Amino acid sequence: MKFIRNALAGTTALCAATAVSAADLEVTHWWTSGGEAAAVAEFAKAFNDKTDHNWVDGAIAGSGGTARPIIISRILGGDPMHATQLNHGRQAEELIEAGLLLDLTDVAEAEGWADIVNPPSLLESCTVDGRVYCAPVNIHSWQWIWLSHKAFSDAGVDVPTSWDEYVAAAPALESAGKIPLAMGQQPWQSNGAFGVMAIAIAGIDAWSEVNINKNADVAGGETYAKVFEAAANARSFAANSNVQDWNQATNLVITGQAGAQIMGDWAQGEFAVAEQTAGEDYTCLPGLGVNEIISTGGDAFYFPKQDDAGIEAAQKEMAALLLSPEVQVNFNLKKGSLPVRGDVDLTAANDCMKKGLEILASGAILPDGNQTFSPDTTGQIEDLMVEFWNDPSYSAADAQARYAEIIADAD
Ligand code: GAL
Repeated sequence: MKFIRNALAGTTALCAATAVSAADLEVTHWWTSGGEAAAVAEFAKAFNDKTDHNWVDGAIAGSGGTARPIIISRILGGDPMHATQLNHGRQAEELIEAGLLLDLTDVAEAEGWADIVNPPSLLESCTVDGRVYCAPVNIHSWQWIWLSHKAFSDAGVDVPTSWDEYVAAAPALESAGKIPLAMGQQPWQSNGAFGVMAIAIAGIDAWSEVNINKNADVAGGETYAKVFEAAANARSFAANSNVQDWNQATNLVITGQAGAQIMGDWAQGEFAVAEQTAGEDYTCLPGLGVNEIISTGGDAFYFPKQDDAGIEAAQKEMAALLLSPEVQVNFNLKKGSLPVRGDVDLTAANDCMKKGLEILASGAILPDGNQTFSPDTTGQIEDLMVEFWNDPSYSAADAQARYAEIIADAD
């Protein structure tokens, strides 16, 4: 069956089918929400249809915070999967140093990744000592607030166009029995929401001082005090949001039980699965309607080394395929992320994705926390943020003091 499909697809597939025997590749990832599952299914379909190999899906529920330690300990413990999602950036640094990941430099060169991957920081994040160790598959940005038209209309107020308007509308949402801010409880969510608020409220220069230059004075200073105060206020808006997972929080917005969620653009995949339309059922404001900017983090695939030439060839076929134009379009339209190459046809993009593409084209981009901080520093900030967002008695000033300490030691 597989052979017939490939034979029909053309000579390239036929050659591949005879040169390399079929391999089953186990692929781990944490894409288990409705939108995420629909997106990763595009990868699996392309791999099964366009190569002689099989995608064996290894989804791990519970988001990156749960999946990453499992993925990393399997690789370190000698039970590696054949391919895995991680956020590109610094999460794989130690695995690369330990020589556990396949060098993809030949694939990158053959496919011309240096010429097509945009922004170049995505490929740089995959590169250590001049060698390429991952295939970047998307650009995901954190800087979005998602607003429910139903919630605001039930509360009798206009859909806000900025963070200040949103804050002003929160009491009306509360009076109408709505949760002003939907928040899940996972540490990365608390940290992400804070980071988005920091860019909007402290501004890009202060954010860059703290996140790129690790400037503890700015982290502990007056400008950042405003961010902590705003976050303490936002914490009260989220007091009745009792969900755990990010997509459950998105669902509160989709159903109009909550006014808003601060979440990365993967939330778009949930609105798409729910068949909601941007501009009609919901609004997305980049940079909280204050600073139109996006961070260019995202996902990349890494291929743990296997002692088998046939498997290695199949891993490299997968790496090349994930960046191919058609796969990039089909996957990213479902995922809510932007493609890593600018030379693909995105006429089918919705309004939010179009906004993201415009911001990317304007060059208003920042690195993602996974690119600027080590996993250890990120973990310390996440611990602080989850405590702060969940304990109303934790004052903004105390949280800021702890934050400045972490930044002083950050790497
Ligand atoms: C991020 C990942 C996204 C998205 C999100 C929620 O780490 O980059 O692709 O899926 O987690 O699961």
